[in-house]
Amino acid sequence: MQSLIVQNVTKTFETPKKQILTAVNDVSFTIEEGTIHGLLGPNGAGKSTLISMISGILKPTTGHIKILGIDVVTETETTKKLLGIVPQEIVVEMAFTVEEVLYYFSGMYGVPIAERRARILEVLHDLDLEDKMHERARNLSGGMKRRLMIAKAILHKPKFLILDEPTAGVDVSLRQKIWALVRRLNAEGTTILFTTHYLEEAENLCESITLIDHGQIIKDGKLKDIQKEFSKNMIHFELFNHAVSHMANVQMSGNEYEYPMTALGTDMAALTAHYGDNLKSIRSEAASLEDVFLKLTNRV
Ligand SMILES: Nc1ncnc2c1ncn2[C@@H]1O[C@H](COP(=O)(O)OP(=O)(O)O)[C@@H](O)[C@H]1O
Ligand SMILES: [Mg+2]
Repeated sequence: MQSLIVQNVTKTFETPKKQILTAVNDVSFTIEEGTIHGLLGPNGAGKSTLISMISGILKPTTGHIKILGIDVVTETETTKKLLGIVPQEIVVEMAFTVEEVLYYFSGMYGVPIAERRARILEVLHDLDLEDKMHERARNLSGGMKRRLMIAKAILHKPKFLILDEPTAGVDVSLRQKIWALVRRLNAEGTTILFTTHYLEEAENLCESITLIDHGQIIKDGKLKDIQKEFSKNMIHFELFNHAVSHMANVQMSGNEYEYPMTALGTDMAALTAHYGDNLKSIRSEAASLEDVFLKLTNRV
């Protein structure tokens, strides 16, 4: 079963100067139930716009979105209950205490009255906010407000949790806490869509990814397959002295050289024989997501 189907979705905005801005351009991808999926792209790529459409806040200009088979435009009230959303911008109800905020949202998301108190305590514990439960939201630090937003989003144990750049601008310890929580919720059966512009974060956390740039998908699939595709048969090496005659097919890539591999052992032996003591390092390894991204967006 697919938790999410995004099918040919486009979103255009009209700018104040009456120009049409295409924030999301014919995007299609799916997320399998039970996975942690990364939505990756630089600032302005269209990630938040896409998430607003998935959450039913914005309507696609064209295209369709389904959550667990249910259309988000025609059945918004149903899909909203299946979802937990942690928006990018911090929005908390400043005048209320943490407990009041959570009580209000547990009601809104239909947590039965008899279960609310226990569920709130559980979520406060998960987010390490127990000692702040009687504090007004306005008095929380930035990191605590972020945690309160996550607490709000998971109160009703959503089947599908979407986090829009939850780790942007947070300190290392909170980032690790968020990762641990995401992994645990996923292990308990929640499908996760995790938005980030940190590539190494996606490498760490996600099994599948959708890379977008300028509103368009530039790569989509299992992280392992994408890494494999881009590390395709390349041996990387560094030299001490660059003024040498090269073996055929050797290409420069940054400070390194690349050689298209046919058979690892033979090629390594040939390169070592050719460059000898001039070899500073030699390796064949999986491409980092960063390499993939830079290649695909032509930023190198
Ligand atoms: N409500 C809006 N009106 C006009 N333009 C918008 C609106 N929301 C987003 N955009 C534009 O759409 C593009 C994508 O933005 P966004 O989805 O926020 O990107 P990301 O979340 O990947 O950083 C940007 O150029 C942004 O300025
Ligand atoms: Mg965004």
